[in-house]
Amino acid sequence: MSILTNRPDLEAAVAQVAEVAGYLWQKGWAERNGGNITVNVTDCVDDDLRNLHALTGPLPIGTVLPDIAGCYFYCKGTGKRMRDLARRPMENGSIIRILPDGASYVIVGDRPVQPTSELPSHLMIHNYLIHSGSRYKACLHTHPVEMVAMSHNRQMLEKDVMGRLLWSMIPETLAFAPLGLGIVPYRLPGSVKLAEATLELIRDYDVVLWEKHGTFAVGTDIMDAFDQVDVFNKAATIYLRAKSMGFEPEGMTDEAMEEVQHVFRLPKRRPV
Ligand code: 13P
Ligand code: ZN
Repeated sequence: MSILTNRPDLEAAVAQVAEVAGYLWQKGWAERNGGNITVNVTDCVDDDLRNLHALTGPLPIGTVLPDIAGCYFYCKGTGKRMRDLARRPMENGSIIRILPDGASYVIVGDRPVQPTSELPSHLMIHNYLIHSGSRYKACLHTHPVEMVAMSHNRQMLEKDVMGRLLWSMIPETLAFAPLGLGIVPYRLPGSVKLAEATLELIRDYDVVLWEKHGTFAVGTDIMDAFDQVDVFNKAATIYLRAKSMGFEPEGMTDEAMEEVQHVFRLPKRRPV
């Protein structure tokens, strides 16, 4: 029997992860095992699940995160493919319980699938989100082609240069991602250094771009996190299509951008 059986909220959260995993594959952002997803599902957990025997002994997180002690997360499995997860989320990911020390976790179901190698980034950010009383529960790392291509240009890596350029490509980017795009200089995938640099920037930006690697986004749920990356990558695609037609795109004027900011007046998506 699956851990999802008779737990409709948990089942719905995992089904949404599977839906987004399918989109990541269809978009060409998820070659092989590329990308990872974690969702804080603690709100969907009942006493039976809390008392359920773990499938593994304690495994180290690699850092101490007191605010996630006792929490539960759905995590994509390391080395697992998004296209497989889309059809079989509980064979290509698992639910973990963080132990009271905040430094280790156990896998509770359905199978002992080892969580993603980017667990340090994901859990450090969940720890920050919980600590700050945020509504955000989902983290997404993916490899959107156009944004990664642009991150190979040093000029684009200067503070707020790429974010401003993308805002000016299509009004919705500014309307839906008014905090812009943070840039994390290249760090080894899966490293605590990458996690720390991500945490530093995700407080201030809608999406963070890992130089020559991918993006990291947070959201109220995984669909929300996906939308944020999709909005930016649409703008990046427009920019690159214009360049491939042989011209530098003009971009919206400052006045047009101010008007969008003024008229839309969307609540800032700051994670706290
Ligand atoms: P995992 O298969 O460990 O999730 O790694 C994929 C990835 O994109 C690493 O940055
Ligand atoms: Zn990656």
